Amino acid sequence: MSANGEQPVGHVPQENGLRINGDTTNGSSRFDPDFTDSVINATGPKTNPRVKSVVASLIRHMHDFCRENEITVTEFMAGVDMLNRAGQMSDEKRNEGLLLLDVLGIETLVDEITHKVVSEAHDLPTATAVLGPFWRKDAPIYKMGESIVQNSDDGERALVHGKALDFDTGKPIANAEIDVWHTGSNGLYENQDPSQPDMNLRGRFYTNDDGSYHFYCLRPTRYPIPLDGPGGQLLELLDRHPYRPAHIHFILSAEGYKPLVTQIFDRRDEYIDNDTVFAVKDSLVVDFKQRNGDEKAEFELEYDFRLVGFGAAHRK
Ligand code: BEZ
Ligand code: FE
Repeated sequence: MSANGEQPVGHVPQENGLRINGDTTNGSSRFDPDFTDSVINATGPKTNPRVKSVVASLIRHMHDFCRENEITVTEFMAGVDMLNRAGQMSDEKRNEGLLLLDVLGIETLVDEITHKVVSEAHDLPTATAVLGPFWRKDAPIYKMGESIVQNSDDGERALVHGKALDFDTGKPIANAEIDVWHTGSNGLYENQDPSQPDMNLRGRFYTNDDGSYHFYCLRPTRYPIPLDGPGGQLLELLDRHPYRPAHIHFILSAEGYKPLVTQIFDRRDEYIDNDTVFAVKDSLVVDFKQRNGDEKAEFELEYDFRLVGFGAAHRK
């Protein structure tokens, strides 16, 4: 009680000297204080050390989360139902589990953690960005300069060109694979949209001896992430919009270099500062320019990728 007899904001009622909720900050809890340790200690001696420590930490955080929030059986079962539905909706064309974690910013966080040492360097290689749930393996291999647009999509066309370079030496990387994918101008990836040809707007290119590449595609379009599953349900519960700003995905792979998973984002997009999966990084925001005299594209983008070699000792 305060001097005026009113209860301070955030006051937690006490019962027999213990806090009424599951808060353990004063070392006491009305829940079994040994339960979490007994679950962790059930781990057998043959467990891989990394698995052992990661799962112990997961158990501790999840138990604390349940106690702190006094999760009820009804709430718990609603969460389990969400996970089950995400699993049931997922197949080789759809990854609802990843989408659910994307909405919570987890894929972006793990991407940041994985590349932390790199991002602490002074001069930076090309930044990474999340893979997302729509990548497909074995995209068609194109000749340099071809278009990945297989249909009559009436979106704006763009020429994307540049070089793959060694981050340390600045030297060109020949024969680097550039795997690229983006949505149609309706905001749908081909595997979400039966009206698009298989593998439309996806392709792989191999850089020339001077590291250069160029190909035609669409200037990308913003799109809402799918709302018909638990990922969408979570966004609705959190009163959030579903949009990703216009972007193109890339994976660069070259012998002797760490694969680079990234995206470039179109600066003109109104969601550029408000990506629903929190993946935009300043260095990945680009400006498409008007292109004249090319009947195949009205815009162009020059973008160089800087890859980190496996031998680079100062980086992870
Ligand atoms: C994507 O850009 O393809 C994406 C990434 C995370 C969640 C949903 C979509
Ligand atoms: Fe995407």
